[in-house]
Amino acid sequence: MLSLLMKRRSIRKFTDREVTEEQVKQILQAALLSPSAHGRQSWEFIVVRDKNMLQHFGNCRQPKQPFLPETPVAIAVLGNPEVIDVWVEDGSIAMTHMMLEATALGLGSCWVQIRNRPSNQNDMPAADYIKQLLHVPEPYQVLAILALGYPGQEKEPLSLEQLPYHKIHRERF
Ligand SMILES: Cc1cc2nc3c(=O)[nH]c(=O)nc-3n(C[C@H](O)[C@H](O)[C@H](O)COP(=O)(O)O)c2cc1C
Repeated sequence: MLSLLMKRRSIRKFTDREVTEEQVKQILQAALLSPSAHGRQSWEFIVVRDKNMLQHFGNCRQPKQPFLPETPVAIAVLGNPEVIDVWVEDGSIAMTHMMLEATALGLGSCWVQIRNRPSNQNDMPAADYIKQLLHVPEPYQVLAILALGYPGQEKEPLSLEQLPYHKIHRERF
């Protein structure tokens, strides 16, 4: 598990190689396997491959996320605050599971933050922009978008020696 965690890096450049439906299925299975508060599964997932939609996604954030239009597959993660107040935590765990499964499959991924961020469209909140594009009904909220594809850039794996061990406290802060 640690070696998988070390390999996961944010990839913002992808090749044209096709991400198969089987790979997407396994990544979604990883999401659906994630724990959620009270087991209430407050998340929803929208898989987007449509080039035209991905082009629009390029404007979903300020500053721009120029890699999104070139991303083979994007998965928007939504939460339902009426199901549970900790939908952000539920969605974040699902995002993490998906990033790790993508890494295990040899794919690159990058978290694009949507919640609490402005879009590139007259400072409209990024979440409202994505909700409009994807026809998301109330009361669902958009947490983030996961960009997925075969890596078009090389990134060094993280190393155990260079971890910020000073963040760890024992018994008290
Ligand atoms: C909550 C969260 C929000 C993030 N938002 C963005 C984002 O909007 N755009 C982006 O390119 N990367 C985003 N990232 C990726 C981080 O920049 C990246 O994880 C961090 O720089 C560490 O690099 P690494 O993932 O390669 O280890 C986000 C990561 C997290 C966990």
